[in-house]
Amino acid sequence: MGKVVIKVFVFLLILVGLFMWVGYAITKMTGGEKIAGGAVTISPEGGETIFWGKGRCFTCHSIGDRGSAARCPNLGVWGDKLPLPIGQRAAERAKERSKQTGLNYTATDYLVECLASPAAYIVEGFKNEMAIVYAPPISLTVDEIKAVISYLQSQGGEVNIEAINTPTEVSKKLWDKIAAAGAAGGGDPGHGEEVFKMACVSCHILKGEGGKIGPDLTNIGTKSVKFISESILYPAVTFTAGYETYVVIDKSGKKIVGIKTKDDGSGVEITKENGEAVTIAKADIKEITQDKNKSIMPEELIEAMTVKDYQDVLAFMVMQKSRQ
Ligand code: HEC
Ligand code: HEC
Repeated sequence: MGKVVIKVFVFLLILVGLFMWVGYAITKMTGGEKIAGGAVTISPEGGETIFWGKGRCFTCHSIGDRGSAARCPNLGVWGDKLPLPIGQRAAERAKERSKQTGLNYTATDYLVECLASPAAYIVEGFKNEMAIVYAPPISLTVDEIKAVISYLQSQGGEVNIEAINTPTEVSKKLWDKIAAAGAAGGGDPGHGEEVFKMACVSCHILKGEGGKIGPDLTNIGTKSVKFISESILYPAVTFTAGYETYVVIDKSGKKIVGIKTKDDGSGVEITKENGEAVTIAKADIKEITQDKNKSIMPEELIEAMTVKDYQDVLAFMVMQKSRQ
């Protein structure tokens, strides 16, 4: 009997050790996430913390062998396709951008543009899928963006904080854009409208059209960007009164979950997530409760969207103001 206990104990120890190792290995694989604390210094070290942490750059980009993300351009040396690390590559791209636009791009201007207007120049072989890093949920500040740029410069190039802090003809407009767009949600509202038609209109009315399960969003832009953003990210946290989720169990044991759209003496009407309205007579109700931790608006919604789709739909929402 004693031997069995020891065997089980040893087995458990090995199991726990294995779990810890897997956890460690995964953290290493993603480049090791550092947690940013307090204000950032505009330096490569400050930028490194942002890159592998709050900026979430590491979820899409690796640098050389560091990190595991493979679907976006590697910012270190990467085979024949990207033979120069981003610190040097930026100078090459700047020449290309100067030719394309007739403006005089410095290497630093190119890096500012990558973060301010990623759609302005798309790296060959990749898609327009870079996140707007100054919009929610990433929401980098101007100083954090400056720090990240100095970190990118330090990848094989020359760190030049003065160039970062001195706006040029090209970068002045980009910095202004970051300040203005950051305040308005950041994304591309034109594409956001398409996302809305795909993922939201079945439940929400906008300018008279759409589903009636959630609140009418025709004037949602009169609320703060923070509120709108949280409503999409954490529906249950920013609950809108009048749209509580009800759980009805009828006498046959059937469970109906949805919003109470009617309640009169004879019974209740519950509108389900898919828009179907079910009427249950008072006499058939065994139990009716309100689920305070759940919104009919799906939490998984955000998981099914790319960061860009989310930012674009948010920018579209921020613009919805029919009365001032
Ligand atoms: C959601 C994924 C995603 C995130 C997050 C992301 N990027 Fe990108 N990034 C891309 C994609 C895709 C491209 C290529 C398309 C393009 O050029 O816009 C790109 C391009 C770039 C380039 C240009 C590379 C070159 O070869 O010229 C730089 C520099 C860059 N990103 C830096 C960053 C930094 C710094 C962060 C974090 C603050 C970041 N990115 C966050 C997806 C992402
Ligand atoms: C299955 C139905 C459903 C879908 C799909 C849905 N929502 Fe909602 N939404 C709701 C319900 C119900 C509420 C009210 C309860 C709450 O606050 O969570 C709500 C609340 C909101 C609010 C807060 C409104 C206010 O006035 O307080 C916003 C903003 C919002 N949704 C945006 C969106 C966006 C953007 C999408 C698409 C990406 C979306 N919703 C998709 C059902 C839905």
